[in-house]
Amino acid sequence: VIKVICIGIEGTAEKTGVGIVDSNGKILASQGNPLIPESGGIHPREAAEHHAANIVPLIKDALHESGLGLEDMDLVAFSRGPGLGPALRTVATAARSLALSLNIPIVGVNHCIGHVEIGRLTTGAEDPVTLYVSGGNTQIIAFDAGRYRVFGETLDIAMGNCIDQFSRSVGLGHPGGPVVEKLALKSRNHIKLPYTVKGMDLSFSGLLTAAIRKYESGEAIEDVCYSLQETAFSMLVEVTERALAHSKKREVMLCGGVAANNRLREMLSIMAEEHYAEFHMPPMKYCGDNGAMIAWMGQLMHSHSLVKGMEDTEVIQKYR
Ligand code: KG4
Repeated sequence: VIKVICIGIEGTAEKTGVGIVDSNGKILASQGNPLIPESGGIHPREAAEHHAANIVPLIKDALHESGLGLEDMDLVAFSRGPGLGPALRTVATAARSLALSLNIPIVGVNHCIGHVEIGRLTTGAEDPVTLYVSGGNTQIIAFDAGRYRVFGETLDIAMGNCIDQFSRSVGLGHPGGPVVEKLALKSRNHIKLPYTVKGMDLSFSGLLTAAIRKYESGEAIEDVCYSLQETAFSMLVEVTERALAHSKKREVMLCGGVAANNRLREMLSIMAEEHYAEFHMPPMKYCGDNGAMIAWMGQLMHSHSLVKGMEDTEVIQKYR
């Protein structure tokens, strides 16, 4: 079997990532560099500038890690969305330049499915219901009737964004996830906060506002952090549980940056256990945004004949 090498570029949000994966699913390199905002949240233009400054150095780092040269690449993959407009344009431009200069095919891939597929590759999960929770996305995804479908998602802000905005508003800085988790461990005092699940969808903006108000009205920060986590994570688990029951799948997978949270992991794995489903989580390196997942998606698109131009390029022909 001919081995194809794919280089993937990720940059839907504030993290630039470059990965190299072969067609056997061997991750040969994964290099990344996040933009750390000095204050406030992620500005799309700053994210784009970060990618512009980091893509070339990261390509060099990834090649170094893999021990390969640019001439060994057969395919370029890039994250085509969903994400921040200026960030996506920068990544697409870099990917096009690379493909044109190497005269190899290019493929744009879906970022969210990338998370699911790198999860399947690194955990061995076969057909999971996936809870993907990050700074920018909150989705419950599963393969059903021939394609990936979003079973439920946030109607407003993402889970990670809710925690980050809360953290910044109460002076705990960015990113909020790790700080809020640590403070939550010091409390068992549940304050009632809005719990908003609408059908299979979720809303976090009312919860965010209410949590900030509780803090401002004098509630202890530990109690607010604890209650925010318990409320939001229960909402996530409820929708994932319903998707699991509906789809009759036997596996639950957790991914995205918020997967770092031990309490969320605990709650979700208890739910999975109650349904006799296996619980999976990729290594943290592949939970957040990364280039390897984009490169692997490129391989999957290629192996399913979804890469245009793969057949007529000289590079691929030379293997025939
Ligand atoms: O996937 P990711 O690295 O990239 C973005 O989508 O931006 O996710 C980052 C998000 C941030 O919102 C951060 O606060 C959250 O993951 N996060 C956590 C924890 N560690 C990171 N959320 C909850 N608990 C944590 N321990």
